[in-house]
Amino acid sequence: MERVLVTGGAGFIGANFCRFLIDHTDASLTVLDKMTYAAAPEALAPLPAGRISVVVGDIADPDLVGRLVGDHDTVVNFAAESHNDTALSDAGSFVATNLVGTYVLVEAATRAGCRLHHVSTDEVYGDLALDEQQRFTESSPYRPSSPYAATKAGADHLVRAWVRSRGLRATISHCSNNLGPWQHVEKFLPRQITNLLDGRRPRLYGDGRHVRDWIHVEDHSSAVWTILDRGRIGETYVIGADGEHSNRDLVGVLLAAFDRPPDDVDFVADRPGHDLRYALDATKLRTELGWIPQRTDLARELSALIDWYRDHESWWRPAKAATEAAYAARGQ
Ligand code: NAD
Ligand code: DAU
Repeated sequence: MERVLVTGGAGFIGANFCRFLIDHTDASLTVLDKMTYAAAPEALAPLPAGRISVVVGDIADPDLVGRLVGDHDTVVNFAAESHNDTALSDAGSFVATNLVGTYVLVEAATRAGCRLHHVSTDEVYGDLALDEQQRFTESSPYRPSSPYAATKAGADHLVRAWVRSRGLRATISHCSNNLGPWQHVEKFLPRQITNLLDGRRPRLYGDGRHVRDWIHVEDHSSAVWTILDRGRIGETYVIGADGEHSNRDLVGVLLAAFDRPPDDVDFVADRPGHDLRYALDATKLRTELGWIPQRTDLARELSALIDWYRDHESWWRPAKAATEAAYAARGQ
């Protein structure tokens, strides 16, 4: 695994994954990223220039992708439109990148005989009730409930069909909600933390009882690396670190860190079709491949995340006002 093409490598998880590969392997990396509003090229700047190069371009561009894939041993696809709230009103770019872009990648990787790892999401499995014991596994049925999740589900079907019928050498992973540095301020934790840094209230959708299964982005990176290193071609792996918390509980932890009262929060318009609960069972990844998450002390990680956003205001500040204006227009 010497030459790795990381698509979407300037985004939140992709950039953290590049740092992980630089720190833990001797691979040389090429990032292919369209540099949408969600990109954080600043996250790549400290990485050694001799180990990483950046190409600005679209994964849905067959000529560019064909050339780049042919020059690499492995492709890891993080490129996506990733925000549920945006997809509810404007899903065109989600179809273009998540579906058509993935089609272009599987075609190119098949022709070049290149290994592909496709990064999917737990959201393809729909949601769970708050009171059920069940968690998602690799054999859970597909039941996407949002436009974003539907495009991610379609992309997974493309990858699996190309594996079975076209000989593509690919693996797929389904991860839960990530926390860590360089996440755009539109997402839940960065939005609440930067609101609190600005002296504003956190904003909870609906009644705030919705549950997400949190994992540190570094643990997501180590899981993807483990799958590249030891995963079986054609297999699917669920990635989760047993981090279920309600949105209301997480906001409570953040409020306490800012010495604010637990009810100092605004309940705002709910997300249409809002998935109630995600919960993942990563037994297969843990037992078959020996993966163990390391950064599972959520209180400590949230405290570190607050410090990180406090220290990186110059990065997130330019996006904050426009992001909040878009939320305000939706009553959120
Ligand atoms: P992000 O929105 O932060 O980053 C996406 C990156 O992809 C950006 O740098 C963007 O510029 C790039 N991109 C978008 N369209 C592109 C295109 N057509 N061609 C090339 N690059 C393009 O997303 P993220 O949170 O880092 O998510 C990365 C992947 O992980 C996505 O596939 C997402 O579905 C999946 N995922 C995310 C989470 C999470 O909690 N954030 C959890 C599970 C899975
Ligand atoms: O589960 C994996 C998914 O996690 C990824 O596939 C997505 O790309 C990623 O964005 C994330 O999706 P969510 O919709 O779960 O994340 P988001 O940060 O948008 O919201 C997390 C929860 O917080 C969700 O229940 C909605 C809620 N929320 C969000 C915002 C922005 C609020 O209550 N208030 C808010 O202001």
